[in-house]
Amino acid sequence: MDHAAPLPTGGLAVVFGASGAIGGAIAERLRVDPRFADVLAFSRSGTPSVDVTDEAAVAEAAEAIKTRGLAPRLVVVATGFLHGAGQQPEKTWRHLDGAALARSFAVNAIGPALVLKHVLPLVPRDGRSVVAALSARAASSENTLGGWYGYRASKAALNQLVRSAAAELCRRSKEAVCVTLYPGHVESDLSAPFGVGAVGAAHDRGAPLTGPAAPPRS
Ligand SMILES: NC(=O)c1ccc[n+]([C@@H]2O[C@H](COP(=O)([O-])OP(=O)(O)OC[C@H]3O[C@@H](n4cnc5c(N)ncnc54)[C@H](OP(=O)(O)O)[C@@H]3O)[C@@H](O)[C@H]2O)c1
Repeated sequence: MDHAAPLPTGGLAVVFGASGAIGGAIAERLRVDPRFADVLAFSRSGTPSVDVTDEAAVAEAAEAIKTRGLAPRLVVVATGFLHGAGQQPEKTWRHLDGAALARSFAVNAIGPALVLKHVLPLVPRDGRSVVAALSARAASSENTLGGWYGYRASKAALNQLVRSAAAELCRRSKEAVCVTLYPGHVESDLSAPFGVGAVGAAHDRGAPLTGPAAPPRS
């Protein structure tokens, strides 16, 4: 494979999670990128409403991609969940909760996997295409800090799901790339309660998890 092969021009760019800080910024940037003839930006608040944990909604998004009649050359899955609806990242194993873990896995791993299932068959067999899902450095197996069980584990699962899909994809689309990306720390609703301030500094030193929940290393 030519690792430096450019994306062919005239294709379609697709963003899942376009209502988010990172997904929204990526979609905005892609709209002025001359390599793409069109951009499809999906979110739960858009039309169609695409909740990645709902396979029928993901299938509907794939149908919308097909209807555009353009080769998807770049697909970014920028959805993700860290906290919300009464759920906070776990500071200790005492906080482990089955329903909370299931929710983290549903949004961070299973949802993107369903996107892969429905979108990868649409990736052209020829030429470079890139399918990328946003993961987090917090998922690294070098984690010695503890805490954030659900987020770390669901992102680690995402990494492996994408790795498996990449191995399968390269057999049919030789120039296609399927990867997870770590965006680094970005101010967003997801990261807002865990800024890179005091707890971030402690995290960098490898301090044990005490006090407020430590931020993920992205
Ligand atoms: N910000 C960081 O520092 C950082 C660091 C490392 C990795 N990341 C990763 O980067 C990605 C984007 O995060 P962000 O910082 O941009 O956060 P964000 O602004 O909170 O965006 C999260 C996005 O995920 C969407 N989402 C959540 N659950 C969903 C579901 N079930 N179905 C469809 N969409 C869903 C949200 O949609 P709604 O608007 O409908 O809620 C929103 O568009 C995430 O995967 C995150 O883990 C972020």
